[in-house]
Amino acid sequence: MGLDGFTPGAGDLALGVETFTQITTPLNVLAGNLTCGETTWPGGRVVQRGGLNVGIVGVVGADEAAGTQGACAVSDPVAAAKAAAASLGDVDLLIALHTGGASLSAKLAEAVPGLDFVLDGKVGASFPEPRPLAGGQVFELGAGGQGKKLGVLSLELTEGATAWDGEAATGELERRITLAKKRVTEAEAALAGAADTKSKDRLAQRLQTLQKQVVELEAQLAALAPKTSGPTNRFSVELLELSAKVPDHPPTQALVAATLAQLNGVAAQPAAAQAPSRAFAGSEACRACHPAAFTQWSTTPHARAYASLEAVSRANDRDCASCHITGAFHPDGPQGPEGLSPTLQNVGCESCHGPGLQHSAAPADHPMRAEVAPEVCTSCHDGDRDGGRFDPAVYRPKVLHGGGG
Ligand code: HEC
Ligand code: HEC
Ligand code: HEC
Ligand code: HEC
Repeated sequence: MGLDGFTPGAGDLALGVETFTQITTPLNVLAGNLTCGETTWPGGRVVQRGGLNVGIVGVVGADEAAGTQGACAVSDPVAAAKAAAASLGDVDLLIALHTGGASLSAKLAEAVPGLDFVLDGKVGASFPEPRPLAGGQVFELGAGGQGKKLGVLSLELTEGATAWDGEAATGELERRITLAKKRVTEAEAALAGAADTKSKDRLAQRLQTLQKQVVELEAQLAALAPKTSGPTNRFSVELLELSAKVPDHPPTQALVAATLAQLNGVAAQPAAAQAPSRAFAGSEACRACHPAAFTQWSTTPHARAYASLEAVSRANDRDCASCHITGAFHPDGPQGPEGLSPTLQNVGCESCHGPGLQHSAAPADHPMRAEVAPEVCTSCHDGDRDGGRFDPAVYRPKVLHGGGG
């Protein structure tokens, strides 16, 4: 693809050092703090684009090599980024790539002199607008962690300008301020209605925290206002959906097909490989005592969510487990698709009602709640993976069991 810079994360390193090195050899890997055996990578490079010297530095997030069983080591990303940036000398534009999440973005923005943009590959959900860091001098960008979107940053540079016009970043801040103000109003109403001193104290404290938040956010917004009357550089950000409308790349498609075929071979592992869950019983265990709920659930697509993965050869893909397997990545649930107990396939009862092993054994001692918070649904119907189809008014009635238990 002719990439000018690529910084790996845990998912890339999990391929194993040999495969990782082989696959990434033709790429410009930038990873100033990564060592795998004898191999190290450069931390930065300069490319000429549009008559500008563009400096790119890349560092791996501190925890990203944890899955390599010691085959790779990661040193302090902030120190490595500073050193890499210094080694590039004078550049017109400085961009940092990293896989360390929002907190590393903030640290890099503060620590690396001359930085303009931070591209965070670890960010989970995509955020359409840049986040201002270091008082609006640096901007953090992310296109989501699922590879479904392509972020496009467009720059408009003006002769003699030394600062960025933060215009493109105000929307995100304005949204957060509106939300914080709404919370303040809610907290004020709750405080007015509080019955006893104990809850009054608690609510007053909460109100104070929220008010402080509003002040901080408004200060951030104010910091984005142009500091000079002189010329400023401008930028804009766009996220392009990598949907079916974008044609596939046949060689990449062939690679994906070959890898999926390999993954399917792994499926032959014995099911007992993973310890049975300490908290989840599986939907079959609920059937005898809640026959009506079970019958209704069986008719919903939730009961076939695992078959949907099998149909597209993805039953062994870790990326799909969290929403198509019951209790996936819960501390006491399955930690992935490997050796999954068949009882926890699909979006089972416990995906919505929570772990029910103890309840199944002694319902009276371990009661369960019927209520399912809206956030439970949206943890999977996240507006991203589901193509934005979720509408509670339409979807919720379809999962209710009819009140018959
Ligand atoms: C041995 C019988 C038994 C098993 C097995 C069992 N339950 Fe229950 N469950 C009960 C009883 C009894 C109650 C309380 C009475 C009631 O409200 O239906 C209850 C209540 C509930 C409630 C709250 C209902 C309400 O209206 O408040 C939920 C939700 C629930 N169970 C879910 C499950 C799930 C999920 C499983 C499987 C993991 C399960 N139960 C397994 C007997 C059982
Ligand atoms: C653990 C993840 C998860 C949770 C929690 C979850 N869902 Fe789902 N839901 C899915 C998946 C995955 C599918 C698609 C299943 C398939 O077709 O393979 C789905 C499908 C559906 C469908 C069927 C859509 C269609 O094709 O007609 C409805 C309706 C639905 N969910 C409603 C809800 C509601 C309402 C909640 C909350 C009360 C909820 N879901 C909670 C993962 C989840
Ligand atoms: C964040 C949660 C989430 C993850 C992760 C997830 N899915 Fe889903 N998936 C859903 C939901 C929700 C639906 C139901 C969407 C609807 O019908 O509204 C769904 C539906 C599906 C369907 C049913 C038909 C369709 O195309 O809508 C298939 C197939 C599917 N997912 C495959 C996958 C695969 C393959 C992966 C992993 C690469 C994956 N999913 C990862 C939440 C998720
Ligand atoms: C997609 C999410 C979802 C799944 C999966 C699910 N439930 Fe529910 N369940 C609900 C919702 C929503 C309610 C209604 C809660 C309320 O009244 O606020 C409910 C209510 C219940 C109740 C209370 C009585 C009733 O029917 O309203 C029981 C018992 C129950 N569920 C058991 C089960 C069992 C057993 C399974 C699996 C066979 C299951 N549920 C699967 C969402 C789910």
